[in-house]
Amino acid sequence: MNSDTDFYNSLELSLKYAESLLEDAVSNSKSIFHSPTLSISDTPRTVVLREYDRNVRYMRFHTDLRSKKIHSLNENNLAFIHAYDPEKKVQLRLRGNVNLHHNDETSLLAWNNSREMSKLCYSVKGAPGEIITHPEKYDLDKEKINIEDGYQNFGVLIFKYYELEFLYLKNIGHRRSKFTWKDDKAELNWLIP
Ligand SMILES: Cc1cc2nc3c(=O)[nH]c(=O)nc-3n(C[C@H](O)[C@H](O)[C@H](O)COP(=O)(O)O)c2cc1C
Repeated sequence: MNSDTDFYNSLELSLKYAESLLEDAVSNSKSIFHSPTLSISDTPRTVVLREYDRNVRYMRFHTDLRSKKIHSLNENNLAFIHAYDPEKKVQLRLRGNVNLHHNDETSLLAWNNSREMSKLCYSVKGAPGEIITHPEKYDLDKEKINIEDGYQNFGVLIFKYYELEFLYLKNIGHRRSKFTWKDDKAELNWLIP
């Protein structure tokens, strides 16, 4: 067994491995976990993982405030993250709460640290998901846009999880484990896969 699968029969190492995959994913755009699926009450969608902190179980995502998913948000919304890496044969499922930030310190810092290319899409005329007849009219021309104007449409979603489920597929025996935090104390359990 190589060091990558040392976690096979260890709950502690399974958790550490899951956390290291998420840590790597922030800056590694080739990682499957860089663009996981986020579900907030309704449809799932792909989002880019911008920041992750295993100690506070915190993830940061960016989004357009005009999107329908934002309209359905209240305080501490139940939310889920999911991703499966077919090469590593690892599925991660997280359950937690998401909170929206805009026009505050968190969103300003995230905006200021975003690249021009990332800022640009927040200047699209109109809300994501609106029905339109001429898509080409919504293409972005950098020359005609003040990229900084996009900030008014820019939102930050902070996801804090209290449950992480790890599934590792292996033909001789899969390994499924669940980590639950109550008052910052972690409970570690094996599950039947
Ligand atoms: C690779 C990839 C990365 C994406 N990253 C984000 C993202 O970081 N934030 C976001 O709001 N939408 C992102 N999207 C678009 C969403 O998946 C979705 O289409 C969009 O948010 C509109 O969905 P909604 O109307 O449910 O909000 C991404 C899509 C893809 C394919």
